[in-house]
Amino acid sequence: MDAMIPQEMRDQLQAQVASAEHPREQAINVMYAVQKHYGYLTDEGLVEAADILRLTPLEVEELATFYDFIYREPVGKYVIHVCDGVVCWMFHENSVFEYLCKKLEVCAGQISADGWFTVLPAACIGFCDRAPAMLINGKMYGPLTPQLIDEILEKLKTAYCDLVICK
Ligand code: FES
Repeated sequence: MDAMIPQEMRDQLQAQVASAEHPREQAINVMYAVQKHYGYLTDEGLVEAADILRLTPLEVEELATFYDFIYREPVGKYVIHVCDGVVCWMFHENSVFEYLCKKLEVCAGQISADGWFTVLPAACIGFCDRAPAMLINGKMYGPLTPQLIDEILEKLKTAYCDLVICK
């Protein structure tokens, strides 16, 4: 794991925070940037984020809990947010979530053995018209079938795309 965020990045984030009316406005951007550096928002990263935001670590911890896309535990390169909403449930015979967990041999929140994937349940992700749906690094996929899921996972492993910020 990389130690400390680079000074250049820190300076840039501090400038962003300084130009904001209130540091909290920049909280999500700072948390994302720090998360991107470490792979997830580590305890060390949380303290650094708090320092940049001029907030206490506890305040940042509280803010982090509001965002489904800020991870306080290690995650795979791709985090699969599987919609657990009512419409998605109605549109599939077998649970997408269960299918993914079985295929990747993981439980919710675990990292697959190859390091690529973490599966998490999510509340409605706003794509009910394409149910059942899932969101991976900011991109929506659906309507899902087991075959399509297999294809998507294979494709993701050959064309890695960086985390897209979701607010
Ligand atoms: S219920 Fe699944 S996207 Fe809305």
